[in-house]
Amino acid sequence: MSFVIAVAGKGGIGKTTITGLMIRALKRRGNVPILAVDADSNVNLAETIGFPQGKTVGAVRENFSSDISNMPPGMAKETLLELKLNEGLIEGEGVDVIAMGRGEGPGCYCPVNNMLRRFLDILAKNYPFVVIDNEAGMEHLSRRILQRIDALLIVSDPTPKGIMTAGRIRDLIKELELSIENSYFTINRIQGKLEPVIEAEIEKHGFKSFYGIPMDKLIYDYDLSLKPLMDLPDESVAVVAVNKILDEIIKL
Ligand SMILES: Nc1ncnc2c1ncn2[C@@H]1O[C@H](COP(=O)(O)OP(=O)(O)OP(=O)(O)O)[C@@H](O)[C@H]1O
Ligand SMILES: [Mg+2]
Repeated sequence: MSFVIAVAGKGGIGKTTITGLMIRALKRRGNVPILAVDADSNVNLAETIGFPQGKTVGAVRENFSSDISNMPPGMAKETLLELKLNEGLIEGEGVDVIAMGRGEGPGCYCPVNNMLRRFLDILAKNYPFVVIDNEAGMEHLSRRILQRIDALLIVSDPTPKGIMTAGRIRDLIKELELSIENSYFTINRIQGKLEPVIEAEIEKHGFKSFYGIPMDKLIYDYDLSLKPLMDLPDESVAVVAVNKILDEIIKL
């Protein structure tokens, strides 16, 4: 069974960055092969980790009705779908990436959705590690891309609003009864010591502790020069912090 790590939080909080750093950390530890799933309709995980962009699962679904009409005789629909989806899987050294793309639109061919879930479940089984970058907001969590999540990072920034949103996400997860083994409250872009008002906010929202990721100037520099996060040096402060979180997630 694969070990599934997912990252959630409000817009612009650092989900894709942290997902990329998680992938980097897993790879460095030799925890491969990894399936990286971009579950944000605004697809950008592949680019962040230096991969080309493949066809999204959403695009395959949208074109499937017309693909069926041109299907070679004797071919099963499921086989065709699998072929089409495999075109979207970008393979790299130790890491493969698949992007979900847009959700189900009004013109969707619905039986395809069940086939899709089955495909993703089967695909994920080929990988001991699966990392999912989620869309901002909370509704998407109910889309249940995979049946089970072993570690969910709920990401906030060191602001009262960020912490409040993280609290809401945690509560929603409980409400939806999602199958999540452990969640890890993470505060990203920390500069120096947390203000007492932020400490108070953390306590107010019922978080007992948190994992911190510092603001890292190198990430900004890499962003500016469009360099992939996979190439960040080991001494990058964010890399060090994410490695530590992974050590905690996958207890040695
Ligand atoms: N620890 C950090 N130090 C410095 N910059 C960071 C850090 N984490 C994220 N960033 C920067 O913050 C910006 C937003 O990060 P990112 O794209 O990962 O957020 P996101 O939550 O995935 O956003 P969206 O909701 O739009 O998908 C990026 O420019 C990224 O480089
Ligand atoms: Mg993102």
